[in-house]
Amino acid sequence: MIDDLFCDLDSKDQRREVLTDGALILHGFARGETAGLLAAIGEVIAAAPFRRMLTPGRLRMSVAMSNCGPLGWLSDRQGYRYAPLDPDSGQPWPMMPELFAQLAERAAAAAGFPGFAPDACLINRYEVGSKLSLHQDKDETDFGAPIVSVSLGLPAVFLFGGLKRNEPTTRVPLVHGDVVVWGGPARLRYHGVQALKDGRWPETGNCRINLTFRKAGPPDGR
Ligand code: SIN
Ligand code: FE2
Repeated sequence: MIDDLFCDLDSKDQRREVLTDGALILHGFARGETAGLLAAIGEVIAAAPFRRMLTPGRLRMSVAMSNCGPLGWLSDRQGYRYAPLDPDSGQPWPMMPELFAQLAERAAAAAGFPGFAPDACLINRYEVGSKLSLHQDKDETDFGAPIVSVSLGLPAVFLFGGLKRNEPTTRVPLVHGDVVVWGGPARLRYHGVQALKDGRWPETGNCRINLTFRKAGPPDGR
């Protein structure tokens, strides 16, 4: 009964689950495109390989990352920021595949945020035991655009919290093809990913891969 209040099925029989005002899970939204997404990720990673970045506190992150699009998210001793060049190669981040940008735009629109034009796509690779502590996505210039997050490969538990770190979190199981969107009043909510459990997922080499789309630069910038 409670489920009936918060879930509904769209025309493709995909369940939409509202987490809070401005945040929802589009279960299976990317399911029909996962092969194309994984092939495109392979091409991006050939040009900008996964690397485990240092936190400003000089800890090595357990999640390996890369980026595509005009801006890429970075962490090092100087802090967190976006930059147009991959520091490992000195080259611009690989172009964002058209398939990525279109999926992100459609998912944002389905979640009530039309006109999303991401300029950054962070690609996270979680191996067994990798986790992402609770954090806010707040390195972007403007918080008017939502965050669109696409899950591929092994399942994971996404933690979705409040606007303060110590508020309670909801445990959200995510599987291959799920998309989470948060924006508007939920844009600065804390979130994280619990340590990845062991499993078999031949298509992703027994990893979980997450694509996070952001509008990182100024709203009118390209
Ligand atoms: C992130 O917060 O950057 C990634 C979230 C996820 O992997 O689901
Ligand atoms: Fe995040």
